[in-house]
Parts: sequence; C-alpha cells; structure tokens
Amino acid sequence: MKHANFDSHWLELREPVDHRSRSKELVLLLANYWMKQEGRRILDLGSGMGSNLRYLSPYLGKKSQHWTLLDHDSSLLEMIETPIQKHLTISPFLGDLREEGLQLIRDNDLVTGSALLDLTSRGWLDELTEKCANQSCPVYFSLSYTGEVSWHSTANKETDVESLEHHSRICNIFNRHQLRDKGTGPALGPSAVSRLNQLFKSKGYVTKCYSSPWLLNYEDRELKKLLIQGWVHSALEECPEESEIINSWARSSLRLACSSNSILRVSHLDFLALPNTTDSP
Ligand SMILES: C[S@@+](CC[C@H](N)C(=O)[O-])C[C@H]1O[C@@H](n2cnc3c(N)ncnc32)[C@H](O)[C@@H]1O
Repeated sequence: MKHANFDSHWLELREPVDHRSRSKELVLLLANYWMKQEGRRILDLGSGMGSNLRYLSPYLGKKSQHWTLLDHDSSLLEMIETPIQKHLTISPFLGDLREEGLQLIRDNDLVTGSALLDLTSRGWLDELTEKCANQSCPVYFSLSYTGEVSWHSTANKETDVESLEHHSRICNIFNRHQLRDKGTGPALGPSAVSRLNQLFKSKGYVTKCYSSPWLLNYEDRELKKLLIQGWVHSALEECPEESEIINSWARSSLRLACSSNSILRVSHLDFLALPNTTDSP
C-alpha cells in the first residue's frame, strides 16, 4: 500500500478552482443549520494546506469557530494560512485518518473535508458514519471525484471527443487506478459519495448530494496539464501494456488543454448529512 502524496503546488493551483466549483446552495444549507447550533468545533479531515477552512469559515458566521485540521503530511500543515479573524482559532494536527481522524470526531461538532472522500475505503466510511451518528454530528464533504471527464467547446458543443481517440478507455483505466489503496484500504473512488449517502440515510440523517464539477478553461491550463500528467502516470501504472494509446491520448489531451476554445469538465459531488432534527432542511 502506497500513501498518496499531494504536492503543495498542485493544492495551490486547485484552490481557486475548487472554491468556484463548490455548490453554494449546499453550503448555505449547512450554514443555516449551523447558525442554530451551540457547537463551535470543526474537524477538517485531510486538510492539506487549509483550503476547506478558507472556503467554509466565512459561511459559518461570527460566533467563535475552533478548527482542528488533520493531515498526515506535516509539510502541508506547516503551510496553512489562516484568515485573520478574532472569532477563528485553529489547531493543525498531525495524524492519520484511520486513527486520530476517527478518534477526534467525538470532540467536534461538525466533521468536514474537501477533495478527500474518493481516496477512502468502505470500511473507513462505515466507521466515520458510526462515530458521527453516535453523537448526531453533521457532516459536509465537498469536491469528491465521481468518475466522468469530458471535453467541451466554449460554444457549448461536444468538441473533438470523437477525435480524442480512446478517451473513454483511458478514463476507465484511470478510474480503476482510483480504486487502489490510498491509505485507508481499497478506495471507493467515484462511488464513495453514493456509499456515504446510503450510510447516513440508514442512520436517519437528511442527506443532500449536489454537483460541483470543475469546468477548466484556458486560464486553468497549468492545472489541466498537471491533471493530465497525473492521469497518464496512473494509467501507465495500471495498464503498462497500453502505453502506446495512453501516450497518444496524452499528446492529444495536452493540445486540447492549451487551446483557448476548449473546456475540460471533471465531475465532482458535494455531500451534506444533517441529523434529522427540526433544524434540518
Ligand atoms: C486531495 S488532498 C486535499 C487537501 C485539502 N482538503 C484541499 O482541499 O486542498 C487530500 C489530503 O488528504 C491527506 N491524506 C490522505 N490520506 C491521509 C491519511 N491516511 N491520513 C491523513 N491525511 C491523509 C493528504 O495528505 C492531502 O493533504
């Protein structure tokens, strides 16, 4: 089993795209619920450099917020930049999702994370749900990859997907790679959100899943290039015997990534689960 490492440059590049892609409607549902609660402690799992804190904290009002940001990569935790606000305190926490991540739930009033769920396993999601449900804790996870990647033209028509030979084949290979063990057991990859949705529903929570796709345009070309390089790396690891078509797909994709009239759409879902009380929507 290999731990996935996340490069700080990659996280910096994706932060503005993540923030603009999130479902505002969903975060407002959470904010509305949160304002009526007493609790002020928030646990951000797999926090990286604190992108989720920077996005979410302004929605959670001016009452005190205490954030615990857990990650197993100390170099990312050291780079956290906190918005300077007197009602906001943070504690970076070096730990693992399987151990400290689950243990810390009992000391918190909201469990959250961004760009994390697709890396996690069925067993970890079971434990997360169990622990959150035991204390009726709300849960909000944004930007989980759901397995679809497509190219579009800026004029809104399908572009070049036909001529982008082997596109769906490469996506299937990449999505298979997503199911490898990323640190908590074999990952659920694109199906993680639907699994978590079933789990929280079975505990009587009110759940919502809203779409939050990346729509990457010309200005995002550096992110697109890194994304394509990452997919190629994973696809070659998964299917080295397909290297010829993978490399040919990579060349065509990189050309499209740099063209000013193409948009790359990468599907994501945001997920909210609220205990079934009168404060739930
Ligand atoms: C895709 S990054 C997302 C980071 C951040 N939430 C964001 O939105 O920018 C996934 C994060 O999860 C962390 N992570 C992955 N597996 C972990 C584990 N087993 N324990 C703790 N952190 C983990 C990584 O170090 C990385 O910072």
